[in-house]
Amino acid sequence: MKFTVAVDGPAAAGKGTISRRLSNDFGFRYLDTGLLYRAVGVIALHDGQGVLDPHWAVEIARRLTEDDMDRDDLRTSRAGQAASKVAALPEVREALLEFQRAFARREGGAVLDGRDIGTVICPDADVKLFVTASDEVRAARRHAELNNGQSFEQVLADLQARDARDAGRDTAPMVAAGDAHLLDTTKLSIDAAVEQATAWINERL
Ligand code: CDP
Repeated sequence: MKFTVAVDGPAAAGKGTISRRLSNDFGFRYLDTGLLYRAVGVIALHDGQGVLDPHWAVEIARRLTEDDMDRDDLRTSRAGQAASKVAALPEVREALLEFQRAFARREGGAVLDGRDIGTVICPDADVKLFVTASDEVRAARRHAELNNGQSFEQVLADLQARDARDAGRDTAPMVAAGDAHLLDTTKLSIDAAVEQATAWINERL
């Protein structure tokens, strides 16, 4: 059986937690596509060529391996910012596209989370979610998660800068697909969000 769940939305809205829970509950595989961009961004930072050299970033994206996604330095704010810079480069997105589509087509069902899953990677996904929450709630969650000495205000500014870059880019900007279910988790517990998403998936199964 092929069944794709596309989960998009801004930073720290709860996409990852919801996607992981859905993938466990339904036995679907899960791909956190943000890790692909984070890995390209971090490797580009380390190789000294900088994140905005399209030539190097696209080479890194083409050679990316699954091991690169296991690096332990992908969750930092620096990695997030580097990711959103390389993610604005059309050639980088192109280089990562087929891997994501192939993952979505695998037998047994798949959940992919990111920014353009329902719009570009899997426009025919069976269920699409666009997960949001207020800026303050998202920043509070990310602040608690990172716990790295950054102030709440710094984390908030970081998320807002990244969202603006992700929503404002020309290629595959972050936007809800016309047929996506909107899931605002500002006042919703994770359990309630998963329950709602589960109902939408069951309707289609
Ligand atoms: O976990 P969080 O929501 O903070 O970010 P992420 O999903 O790990 O994504 C990091 C960055 O990668 C985003 O800010 C986007 O710039 C980029 N990204 C993207 O452009 N397209 C995707 N499908 C996934 C991530």
